[in-house]
Amino acid sequence: MSVWAVLAAAGRGERLGDDRPKAFARLGDLPLVAEPLRRLEESEWIDGIIVAAPAGWEEPCIVLAEELGAGKVSSVVAGGETRAASVRNALDEVPDSAAVVLVHDAARPLVDDDVIGRVLAPLSEGFDGAVPVLALTDTVKRVRHDEVVETLDRDGLVVSQTPQAFLADVLRRASSGEGTDCASLVEAQGGRIKAVPGDPRLLKVTSQDDLDLVASWL
Ligand code: CTP
Ligand code: MG
Repeated sequence: MSVWAVLAAAGRGERLGDDRPKAFARLGDLPLVAEPLRRLEESEWIDGIIVAAPAGWEEPCIVLAEELGAGKVSSVVAGGETRAASVRNALDEVPDSAAVVLVHDAARPLVDDDVIGRVLAPLSEGFDGAVPVLALTDTVKRVRHDEVVETLDRDGLVVSQTPQAFLADVLRRASSGEGTDCASLVEAQGGRIKAVPGDPRLLKVTSQDDLDLVASWL
């Protein structure tokens, strides 16, 4: 079973507010994207990698991959306006021989083989895809301009992370849609998605505090 990874690294990182895209913000001594790239490269599950980089940052990304010795990286493409568009651009470069595509956010640097194994397993059990999830522990409310409108029933609610794994043909068929994660596109097509245990260390770097926290875990 050939597994290809798509690394979504093309976001602007507006909430981080650095002078460069989030993928190139410093995490330790290297750009943030180096950490997930190295980890995917070292994963025993992954056969090839396509990176979606911010438009204009393809070349620095290729140089970084070379510096890391990331020989599984077969192309670096320019991302699109939305995450879904970036994933579509990358999917175009995934070879037809790939049976499974693992989509991962560069903004979650600490991906490892344990969670990759957990999302891949359900694909041989009849599922179209799998996502790592964390249970909600806080009470969840809907607010409109600072005023609480509703308190949601937390029962059955989880937050989803990446890496997310999909049968390649299912993801390709669903990829014309828009959504904040790939699983939602497959769900919208009626695909069956398995929820597997996530990992708090797969925190998505959004703010400078998140970056500092992840740096402290390296
Ligand atoms: N992403 C992408 N292409 C986009 C938007 C996002 O590849 N057009 C990627 C980001 O690089 C990130 C992941 O999707 O790895 C999750 O997005 P998010 O955390 O929102 O990152 P940014 O969009 O860069 O941040 P912000 O929303 O603060 O601008
Ligand atoms: Mg964003």
